[in-house]
Amino acid sequence: DKGGWSSFMAKEISEQPDAIGNTLRGRLVDGHVDIPELTELGEPRLREVDRIIIIACGTASYAGMIGAYAIEQWARVPVQVELSHEFRYRDPVLTDRTMVISVSQSGETMDTLMAVKYAIERGVTTVSVCNTQSATIPRESDAAVYTHAGPEVAVASTKAFVAQITALYLIGLHLGRVRGTLAADAEAEAVRQFETLPEKMAEAVATHEQIAQLAHWMADTRSVLFLGRHVGYPAALEGALKLKEIAYIHAEGFAAGELKHGPIALIDHGQPVFVLVPSPRTSPLMHAKVVSNIQEIRARGARVIAIVEKGDTAVLPYTDDVVRLPLSDALFDPILQVVPLQWFALELSTAKGLDVDQPRNLAKSVTVE
Ligand code: BG6
Repeated sequence: DKGGWSSFMAKEISEQPDAIGNTLRGRLVDGHVDIPELTELGEPRLREVDRIIIIACGTASYAGMIGAYAIEQWARVPVQVELSHEFRYRDPVLTDRTMVISVSQSGETMDTLMAVKYAIERGVTTVSVCNTQSATIPRESDAAVYTHAGPEVAVASTKAFVAQITALYLIGLHLGRVRGTLAADAEAEAVRQFETLPEKMAEAVATHEQIAQLAHWMADTRSVLFLGRHVGYPAALEGALKLKEIAYIHAEGFAAGELKHGPIALIDHGQPVFVLVPSPRTSPLMHAKVVSNIQEIRARGARVIAIVEKGDTAVLPYTDDVVRLPLSDALFDPILQVVPLQWFALELSTAKGLDVDQPRNLAKSVTVE
């Protein structure tokens, strides 16, 4: 049942405020984050972890990249993110103090399952972030942290992605509390951010109409670039992946600072570039850098579509289109910024007359290696 929407993907994008609310439910207790499934692993085990490796494929790997920033910041453990199918072919250094966190919407992706099994054989603690109750990966893992985003039908992942980021952040906050690395004010601020997130998410979902108009004139576009910095970088990668998956358009995401080291040569007259701009209030340094990146590409003819915090006027002289969001904290911004990018892919796919929910050559869950 598409609930009155033209596609499951549209319905699932619109469900993101609830998806986040469901991931959070029961896990914010008296101003703290508490995940009983992690508590069951035993506090000494959580305290002894000296390295975390996040493994995933596709969209889930970008959720993992975003989650890594938060886990390192709050739990002060080095985190690396690796594609599941690369992980076990390089003889990784694993000890009984390593924690492997797998991220998979379906819980059945064979590449990720085989990587989890490889980790289990080496005595590593395995935690599964999964959206599908009792799937194989969470059953095989030492602990399962379910995202509870509800069934996702469209092949292109949307609400599961924001729920995965949310779950990884909760894991970071839980670990930080147990390990004594999370300052009380940082914890209070993160909890405050979470409490207002579903409401802000609803505002992000409401960008649909504006994005639909934008996509309309871009129906013939052959290539689109996405730029972001820090957590905005994996969000840019996700924006590009969405466009490839369902609109079959060549798209690439770049770290904004990397532009001058090569990709800027791609910028030609009229090249559309989406730029994820951090909040000028809470991330002034990053904001200034991204504004200068925008100036650089604008000077070379790019058509700039900036995703900004409401009230950010510094970017206006250098942009063609501005999408305004209620941003606030660097770590939480990409959860909102990705929503207009999801709408953009959906609308461009629709404008090209494609099947949004069932893109060619792709499956919702890939059960072969
Ligand atoms: C791909 C899907 O094959 O698998 C992507 O097309 C998805 O949308 C990826 O992100 C990973 O899937 P899962 O179920 O492991 O999160």
